[in-house]
Amino acid sequence: MNSVKVTEIAHRLVSVHLQAGEVAVDATAGNGYDTLLLAKIVGDAGVVFAFDVQACALAASGNRLKEHNMDQVVKLCQRGHESLAEVVPGCHHGRVATVMFNLGYLPGGDKSMITREHTTLSALQQALDILRAGGLCTVVCYPGHEGGDQEVAAVLRFIEGLDHDAYQIERHDSEHRMNFPPFLLAIKKMSSG
Ligand SMILES: C[S@@+](CC[C@H](N)C(=O)[O-])C[C@H]1O[C@@H](n2cnc3c(N)ncnc32)[C@H](O)[C@@H]1O
Repeated sequence: MNSVKVTEIAHRLVSVHLQAGEVAVDATAGNGYDTLLLAKIVGDAGVVFAFDVQACALAASGNRLKEHNMDQVVKLCQRGHESLAEVVPGCHHGRVATVMFNLGYLPGGDKSMITREHTTLSALQQALDILRAGGLCTVVCYPGHEGGDQEVAAVLRFIEGLDHDAYQIERHDSEHRMNFPPFLLAIKKMSSG
């Protein structure tokens, strides 16, 4: 069976939503697949801020962007996404069109360098704060690895606690029948208030 990965669904949603010239954030750059998508869409007239705590992840993302001549569009930030609102300049706050999170660990990398509940929740709140009205935040959640279940439970509680008039939330489940499959949360900010 040809199952669609939730990361592909995130890409589809972002492709429909994000426009050339806009501001976007990749909160977990990793190997740069999401960063590249964002950069290709916003193009030279836009800007992407891409965060990762690991130098090797930013190097991989940088190489991928260079291969596609997209490195000028992206500001690679070796900072935790919990400093998102500090790093993304204030002039963009309230103008960010898309923030992508892809939680967990770097595929092929150090599996102890995972995203964690406390910093993820802080970053998520900051992401929602700097989104524009109509902005989209995607979060790919991985409950399967050690610590992932706890982080994902916290993310779900956070989502549950949002004002559901202010945020429209969709959940997309994986078609994989494995234990604890990843899933996608898509959060759309309805107003700037
Ligand atoms: C699943 S990978 C991201 C995959 C990536 N989006 C892609 O397209 O290849 C998760 C990444 O989150 C990073 N990470 C862990 N804690 C972080 C934090 N506090 N802030 C930003 N990135 C973090 C890890 O280093 C890892 O590279």
